[in-house]
Amino acid sequence: MIEVLNKEMFYLYNEKISYVIHILPNGHLGHAYFGKKLGTITSEDVRYLTSTESKSAGTVKFSQTIPNFSLHDQYQEVPIYGTSDFKDGTLKVAEGDDSLYLDFQYISHTIKKEKPRNLAVPASFAEDGQVESITFCLEDPFNQLRLEVTYSLFKNRGTIARGQKLTNLGEKKRKLLRFLSGALDMKNQNFEFLHLSGAWLKERHIKRHSLTQGTVSVGSLKGASSHQHNPFVALLPKGSDNQQGEVYAANLIYSGNFLAQTEVDEWNNLRMMLGIHPECFSWELEQNATFETPEMLLHYTSEGLNGLMAETSAFAEKHVIHPKWYRRNRPVVLNNWEATYFDFDHKKLLALAMEGKKIGIDCFVLDDGWFGQRDNDRVSLGDWFEDPRKFPKGIAAFGKDIHELGLQFGLWFEPEMVSPTSELYTKHPEWVVRHTDSSRIAIGRGQYVLDFSNPAVVENIYEQMKKIISSTDLDYIKWDMNRNITQAYSAYLADNQVNQTEFFHRYILGVYRLYEKILSDFPDILIEGCAGGGGRYDLGILFYSPQIWPSDDSDPIERLAIQSGTLLGYPLSSFSNHVSAAPNHQVRRQTSLEMRTNVAMFGPLGYELNLFELSKNELEQIKTDILFYKKYQSLLTFGRFYQLTEVIDQPNEYGWAVFDEESREGLVCFFRILTEANSSNREFIKVPFVRENKRYSLNGENISGNILKKIGIRKPYQFNSVNGEIAQVAGDYQSFVYELQEL
Ligand code: GLA
Repeated sequence: MIEVLNKEMFYLYNEKISYVIHILPNGHLGHAYFGKKLGTITSEDVRYLTSTESKSAGTVKFSQTIPNFSLHDQYQEVPIYGTSDFKDGTLKVAEGDDSLYLDFQYISHTIKKEKPRNLAVPASFAEDGQVESITFCLEDPFNQLRLEVTYSLFKNRGTIARGQKLTNLGEKKRKLLRFLSGALDMKNQNFEFLHLSGAWLKERHIKRHSLTQGTVSVGSLKGASSHQHNPFVALLPKGSDNQQGEVYAANLIYSGNFLAQTEVDEWNNLRMMLGIHPECFSWELEQNATFETPEMLLHYTSEGLNGLMAETSAFAEKHVIHPKWYRRNRPVVLNNWEATYFDFDHKKLLALAMEGKKIGIDCFVLDDGWFGQRDNDRVSLGDWFEDPRKFPKGIAAFGKDIHELGLQFGLWFEPEMVSPTSELYTKHPEWVVRHTDSSRIAIGRGQYVLDFSNPAVVENIYEQMKKIISSTDLDYIKWDMNRNITQAYSAYLADNQVNQTEFFHRYILGVYRLYEKILSDFPDILIEGCAGGGGRYDLGILFYSPQIWPSDDSDPIERLAIQSGTLLGYPLSSFSNHVSAAPNHQVRRQTSLEMRTNVAMFGPLGYELNLFELSKNELEQIKTDILFYKKYQSLLTFGRFYQLTEVIDQPNEYGWAVFDEESREGLVCFFRILTEANSSNREFIKVPFVRENKRYSLNGENISGNILKKIGIRKPYQFNSVNGEIAQVAGDYQSFVYELQEL
């Protein structure tokens, strides 16, 4: 999988992709190719591809000693601004107030065939024999710096993982001012820059920008990957669709501030970069100290958006999420948040859980409000002990009662936060991230952020959580994080003479440290990530928690857009969905139970509504729905997900499908948001995954694969004139399910 050609060209390839690196005339690492697999190639081929003979006009040459050579028009692996290249680069280092002119030259490389999982740092991993990595050791002799750049290639995956590590070999202190995880230089092939952006309650909608000469970027400076933007980005040639188009995508295995940027130059060359946001970041390196970037993933597919989803989801499931959760069905959850909010006690919740048990729930999750004196969202964060008014016999006794019902038990924590009135804050006001003037500390949802760059803070929260987890024999944690970081100042870092510009990264390392400690002690616990809904839906969190609460908006119509965006970069199995009340609590929209269920069943299913407010018929229906879900649970969690209709431009109709290649079984769901007056009765949705020469049972009808693939499933008939009876679906918010089986 990794071949060295003629000592200066490095050919990384597998069944799907090829990646070619070569050494430039000045000793720097050059990029030759990334994309569809090239098969056997020789050093002559690489030389042909990378010839520097036809120079571009108007460039500054790298040096007098190398004729006609400029970095500005070269595709590079480690681009650095000001080295005869004028575009933004990935790395900037200073000594005192002066920026250094960096010049990293190839020294050696090593190849490894293993990549074990290490709980301390979120990164990709693989079983032995499934991965090969090459690390280039580059040195800047003048500045006495060493840069190690690593690329990993995985068996049968269209993904490359890469990261870089800098070591200060000199005696003088150096400061890293910018250190992105990697760059991809290539031709702009009429690309659009696709990103997943939005806000609280409407996270990760698909957005696009045309790319022309200039810079386009998205990022976060909120201390979290954020509701507004996501580190997953893609380059999509205009005219691509669900089934075709050479798509290049990138993602970062990281949960903090990030920057994703593309820059197109005067020759229509494009550079895509991703990494820790250089704003509000610097890192001091003493002699022999190192800094390692988070890992960046580069994905390639020639099969449009459906190909992209297959790639990103298989990669996350096999190489990011813990193998324990691989193809392991998740419990169907009943969460009490939208059922009771803060108004509950032991008796009331137990009654709810018993009702849940009757309809087929597997796990009861007690959300916010069980600890301290938490009667509203302004108090008690940081005091992780039960509220005796609500749990007179203790939370352990409540957990026992839940377990005795034959249910798993889950609890909500918001470990990184503290309320100003809590016991923890009274004892340790110095533990919050804050402005030094106490009259001007920013506050969000009535809470402060704990200083997770301070190991003593992490330890305190860990000890508190550990006690509760052990005493309740907890199965499930919902790990929330409800406000972003402002005034990023840590008294602990100041006391230890560490620059405050290191805070954001040290904070997120502290969060990972707490995950590591909890999961080392309780490896079987299922953690659901959450950040005011989807404010931290990223691969760093997925490394520790196999599923994430994607949005505080549980309205099925909004979820159609959130889910369609999210699944471009993340697996279906990571996307928790709950059936909630109608009218919906966030947008007050009235939808049918059928519509809410059909949307929520794609991914790990749950319920979040007051079962005592439902009619007998509705409870019976939910019981039947859970049985239906369980029948198809593996398919709906781990099956390959397909978009059957155009999703990019906020469509009115969605066709979602999951299909299992082995059992040849699938489910197709058709959703229509607003009804169309007097619509055509000849509308079809093509089914790309069926085999033409086979026949299929489609809701009991025997239909040819040729018909399904080339013409499609006939869309549900929506006759909406005076005689409504003959319509299959009518009115707004329509949904329709098809069971599909190859015969
Ligand atoms: C956040 C979460 C919700 C719920 C509340 C509880 O908003 O996203 O799901 O847990 O907190 O306060």
